[in-house]
Amino acid sequence: MTKTDKSIRTLAVDIGGSGIKVMVLDEDGQPITERGRVETPQPPKPEPVLAAIASLVTEQGEFDRISVGFPGVVSNGITKTAVNLDPDWVEFDLANTLKDRLGKPVRVVNDADMQGMGAISGKGVELVITLGTGFGSALFVDGKLVPNLEAGHHPFRKGETYEQQLGRVALDEVGQKRWNRRLEKAIAILLNLFSCDCLYLGGGNTKKITFELPPRVTIVPNVSGLLGGIALWRDE
Ligand code: BGC
Repeated sequence: MTKTDKSIRTLAVDIGGSGIKVMVLDEDGQPITERGRVETPQPPKPEPVLAAIASLVTEQGEFDRISVGFPGVVSNGITKTAVNLDPDWVEFDLANTLKDRLGKPVRVVNDADMQGMGAISGKGVELVITLGTGFGSALFVDGKLVPNLEAGHHPFRKGETYEQQLGRVALDEVGQKRWNRRLEKAIAILLNLFSCDCLYLGGGNTKKITFELPPRVTIVPNVSGLLGGIALWRDE
């Protein structure tokens, strides 16, 4: 594969706690298919999730390689944690299993990392937080990823983690008003902690935000979760 070959197509896959999304990107990272989505199978064990991806892919046409954003820690294509999916994902060889199934090379990264790669400018300290089923986080310094931040599982307030206070379950439990108050506090803490130049907020629940965001904080479209898929192959 060469960088100049515009025909190389990347299938981007975003595995989430509530939905699985796919889209094909051209060599410049521009979408060339309509995004496909299905509800995440329950229980979200590896086999039904892989089957869901395989069936979504049938509507996406041709592609040459696959980028996956996974909602947990990933190391060399192996999924290490999956708090919002199923314990069967611990030590699962997602990259090779999906490669064998779909017959194309696969790279897998954390979902917030992939979202960040689709959103950042590549300059300075940039923090990405995703608000969905879980609380995702990714930190970049001059475009280079600081791996495995996993801020979602760090203590935030009242003896609970960011994810326990701001994940989907918390939003459903306490309602939008209290969730917004919590999020405002979390943003202030994170800006202070990382002195970041930019904080990007992604994920489906950004549409629930009702307060005015402080300077340097912006909401990125949910599609960045898939668009970041192109960055996984920059070394090719
Ligand atoms: C996981 C992270 C993930 C986030 C968003 C958290 O529970 O530990 O790895 O990025 O959820 O999906």
